[in-house]
Amino acid sequence: MSILIISGTNRTNNKSLKIANLYAQKLISKNIDAEILSLTDLPKDYIYSALYENSGKNPEFNQIREKIASFKKIIFVVAEYNGSFPGVLKAFIDGLKYPDSLKNKKFALVGLSSGIQGGALALSHLTDVISYLNGNVLGNRMKIYKIEENFKDGKITNSVFEDLINAQIEEFIAF
Ligand SMILES: Cc1cc2nc3c(=O)[nH]c(=O)nc-3n(C[C@H](O)[C@H](O)[C@H](O)COP(=O)(O)O)c2cc1C
Repeated sequence: MSILIISGTNRTNNKSLKIANLYAQKLISKNIDAEILSLTDLPKDYIYSALYENSGKNPEFNQIREKIASFKKIIFVVAEYNGSFPGVLKAFIDGLKYPDSLKNKKFALVGLSSGIQGGALALSHLTDVISYLNGNVLGNRMKIYKIEENFKDGKITNSVFEDLINAQIEEFIAF
């Protein structure tokens, strides 16, 4: 089985990518092929060169489209930005080939936030988008709140979160 993990922001030194790495390590330790796609690696001008009338015309972005197409299971790691998921992630989804890019794929969502929601609304908003596109979202959506307290030096410091993450991974493997 192979799983793609999308780190959903292009912010420099973001924590989403560190959480994506944590998930990748856990999957690899279970002999699952895990690959990370970080939105920091998107072509810098993609909102101009890969969307709308330029859809399909940016070769670098097209490679990313092909990567998405090659995975049946995808984990989104999503920081809470202004009560929702990051705008660059929506612009990224808007750059995928409409309407079938996420169709019939399976998704697990992981939220993180400085505040107490853990991205709950962000994950709901993203679930709506994925469902609209006929993707299937695992009911168990991980919400890591107060990220600065609960995640340090690449490690979860709260055993409750550690257990919840492990349970979510098990459920997603079986999904
Ligand atoms: C543009 C922006 C908006 C944010 N909005 C929220 C918010 O609405 N609620 C919250 O709890 N934290 C908010 N934060 C804090 C982030 O959720 C927190 O710093 C998280 O670690 C960011 O993830 P990242 O490091 O992957 O960018 C915001 C951060 C940024 C950069």
